[in-house]
Amino acid sequence: MTDHTIPKHVGIIMDGNGRWANQRGMPRVEGHRKGAGRTKEIIEAAADLGIKTLTLYAFSIENWKRPHDEVITLMDLLDFYLKTEIEDLLNKGLVFKVIGNKEKLPDNIQYLVEEAERITGSNTGMNLMMAISYGGRDEIVRAVKRFIEKGGDMDEVNEESFEENLDTGGVTPVDLIIRTGGEKRISNFLVWQAAYAELFFTDTLWPDFTKEEFIYAIEDYKLRQRRFGMIPDKAET
Ligand code: IPE
Ligand code: IPE
Ligand code: MG
Repeated sequence: MTDHTIPKHVGIIMDGNGRWANQRGMPRVEGHRKGAGRTKEIIEAAADLGIKTLTLYAFSIENWKRPHDEVITLMDLLDFYLKTEIEDLLNKGLVFKVIGNKEKLPDNIQYLVEEAERITGSNTGMNLMMAISYGGRDEIVRAVKRFIEKGGDMDEVNEESFEENLDTGGVTPVDLIIRTGGEKRISNFLVWQAAYAELFFTDTLWPDFTKEEFIYAIEDYKLRQRRFGMIPDKAET
């Protein structure tokens, strides 16, 4: 039997900005600009559907290896986004949080992120998590360090206690990962949290991804049968 319920936690790998721009003979930055503009509609759609947590993969830890110019452009866009859009998201009651290796971010971005997290901390709406300077493996290594720093005892190591030390500590595992842009890979996104995630891949490039396709992905998820390694009850099959 299928679950028919909407996912509690949805992650999106927002890929395809560069190709979108290339196809139009534009510089890659235009794809990133257009892509950043798409997030608002999808965030609103997710909140309207009653999704508890939306995690958007905006910049991977590997993306630091891109040409300096592109990295600077992406940081500038992030700076602009945090200054202009967050205010609106606050008013919608969202709780904003960044996951990832924040220490690698420029000071101005770190400051804006801290501000946004602080201001939205007491909201009660959807959790909006932005994965910036994020790598799943890096997150796991940092979680191990945190555990040791706190004086964690070997006997206390189990999946639950470990999970609390991840950047996503306290958030339920990701139920559905959507990847735009045609690639069928995870690219270091939510490596631990995605152990039993359902996956939805689309060729649509991120700047062309619409609310309608997002809703389609959620409907598709509702038809999945999640088994978590078990054998479904005969009456339910
Ligand atoms: C995703 O788009 C945005 C980031 C990774 C920052 P890309 O920039 O990867 O676009 P493509 O995959 O080259 O088209
Ligand atoms: C994944 O896209 C990261 C983000 C969308 C932020 P990439 O374009 O960096 O992934 P690969 O290199 O194709 O795996
Ligand atoms: Mg890409």
